[in-house]
Amino acid sequence: MKVITTIKEMQTEIKQQKSEGKSIGFVPTMGYLHEGHLTLIKQARQENDIVVLSIFVNPLQFGPTEDFSTYPRDFERDRALAECEHVDYIFYPTVNEMYPTEPSVKVIVQARTDVLCGKSRPGHFDGVATVVSKLFHIVMPTRAYFGKKDAQQVAVIEGLVSDLNFPLDVVAVEIVREEDGLAKSSRNVNLLPEEREQAVVLYKSLQEAKKAIDQGEQNPHSLIILMKEMITSNSSGVVDYAEIYSYPQLKPLEKLEGRIIIALAVKFTKVRLIDNLILDIE
Ligand code: PAF
Repeated sequence: MKVITTIKEMQTEIKQQKSEGKSIGFVPTMGYLHEGHLTLIKQARQENDIVVLSIFVNPLQFGPTEDFSTYPRDFERDRALAECEHVDYIFYPTVNEMYPTEPSVKVIVQARTDVLCGKSRPGHFDGVATVVSKLFHIVMPTRAYFGKKDAQQVAVIEGLVSDLNFPLDVVAVEIVREEDGLAKSSRNVNLLPEEREQAVVLYKSLQEAKKAIDQGEQNPHSLIILMKEMITSNSSGVVDYAEIYSYPQLKPLEKLEGRIIIALAVKFTKVRLIDNLILDIE
């Protein structure tokens, strides 16, 4: 495994690999790897000749009240984990390498950002789309891997790749869950013991909504009421949002049809959890 810190060297290596006909699987991250990342890496490893992992805490996607400087970092731990997963290259640039001058161009995301988590994070997805565009030009992947847990990010990246014609496939990887159904997250450790037991209600209410759809429910508003009631009566969590949209367009729906997303965010004492379910309605 090679650790590469400059854009030029990364591009030279990739061009060499591509000239030998190798496919490139790319997993972009901000480091501090957890099980979700490892699932992305494992899938990339299975489907490609070469796997590139990027580790870059991107200042552009942090808002003024979100602390870029205290975002957790542990490169040596990440390097060891990547080695275990047989990653070929870690791309690990500095902020100065990625943004040597005040940017003269940035990517503005026009749609899919005014709902769900994007509503409370103005500019966040512009920062994500800008850095991901740069990373795609640097790593030139055949396939890029993103977790469905952050389904809005996947929707934004799919829009970016399609609108700007990046020659690659976006691979959206299933949410990894604990045995009881709670979506895995490094934030789960911040749940109080009784909250950890209650937190499964996010998954259960998504399943309950699916059951209602399977039994013929077509009205998104009724499903939202059902999920909110279930969460508030079975936990001390406060619903931040429970929303249903078309996917990946993230447009409101009057009737359930086509591909949809049911998404939840629930606040507990020290942590806010998100979860979602993407369904195809016949
Ligand atoms: O999901 C993340 O960790 C980041 O948003 C990404 C895609 C690596 C861009 O900085």
